[in-house]
Amino acid sequence: MMTLADARQIPGMIEPVEQELLFNLARSIPLNSEDSIVEFGSFFGRSTYCLSLGLQENPTRNPTHKVRAFDSFSCAVNGAFAGHVTQFAKAGNVENLIKRQEDRLDFSEVFRHYLRNFSTRGLLDFYQWELSDSQPPAGNIALMHVDSPKFYDELKFIFYRFFPKLRAGSKIVFQDYFYHWSATLIAAVQVLKKDGWINYEYSAATSLVVTVNKPFQAADLLAIDLQMQDKAAVLGLIDSAISDTRSLRIDRPEVFIPRLTFAKIQYLWELGLHQEVTRVISDFFNTGNALNLQLVDDFIELMSYGFSIRKLYELDHQTP
Ligand SMILES: C[S@@+](CC[C@H](N)C(=O)[O-])C[C@H]1O[C@@H](n2cnc3c(N)ncnc32)[C@H](O)[C@@H]1O
Repeated sequence: MMTLADARQIPGMIEPVEQELLFNLARSIPLNSEDSIVEFGSFFGRSTYCLSLGLQENPTRNPTHKVRAFDSFSCAVNGAFAGHVTQFAKAGNVENLIKRQEDRLDFSEVFRHYLRNFSTRGLLDFYQWELSDSQPPAGNIALMHVDSPKFYDELKFIFYRFFPKLRAGSKIVFQDYFYHWSATLIAAVQVLKKDGWINYEYSAATSLVVTVNKPFQAADLLAIDLQMQDKAAVLGLIDSAISDTRSLRIDRPEVFIPRLTFAKIQYLWELGLHQEVTRVISDFFNTGNALNLQLVDDFIELMSYGFSIRKLYELDHQTP
């Protein structure tokens, strides 16, 4: 019998609380005819396994329902992600399934290997596509797990093509929302909240769970896009996101809430606003925040990449 504990055998990046979260949401979300559960960013399939197992146990499931997993399942040999691929493949003893094709590593065989049981039984379809090429399924999306783009520029492909498939009551899990590299993702999600499209629910590790209030139309998404073009507005949106955590149930707040401030610092640094960075850091400590080991590690990681991973990311994926 397959259990959630089996997901931990798949090397991956989501924590046990997030594994349970995805499983529980996929098991309990009411499914209408032709609904899908959609995931962006599957890697070796740990999160996909949790969603697929949840769908399998969903009492409203019929044979048309599927988990649909989108990932390029590849990265550049010299990009930001290759180190993770090699390290996780070693941990799972699946290095032989990684294929090198010129200057790229393809890990789709690893995903196939771990998820075979679900795909052969028709519960899971997967698409080896860049986000820029990804197209939505027919029917609506009841549950969406967003774990590939950390930048609004790529999130936009999901917004424009997939968000109109969400309906009132659909759930979205933004993985890596509480993450110091996610500044523009945090701001974009905050626009959705501010303009009444979504409600924030609660968090688990870096994941934020939200509920969709009303269906998205293309024109609404254009209005959201215009707000994201204004860099000062993006900074203000991150500030509002930080304030909004006060009224939410946040998992390990001392670790995850400061990450929103770190994301702001990262974004300011990338914009060259170094004086502003020093002000944000002073404010952070003057308002009662204390250092802990995790925060020091996060800050060291930001520094070690010169406060920007964009160039490395552009080696791994097709960007607009
Ligand atoms: C953090 S990993 C996902 C971890 C996974 N959910 C787990 O449970 O272990 C991010 C994944 O997103 C994919 N990804 C990132 N940007 C992408 C893009 N622009 N197009 C397609 N895939 C992308 C990467 O290939 C990678 O597998």
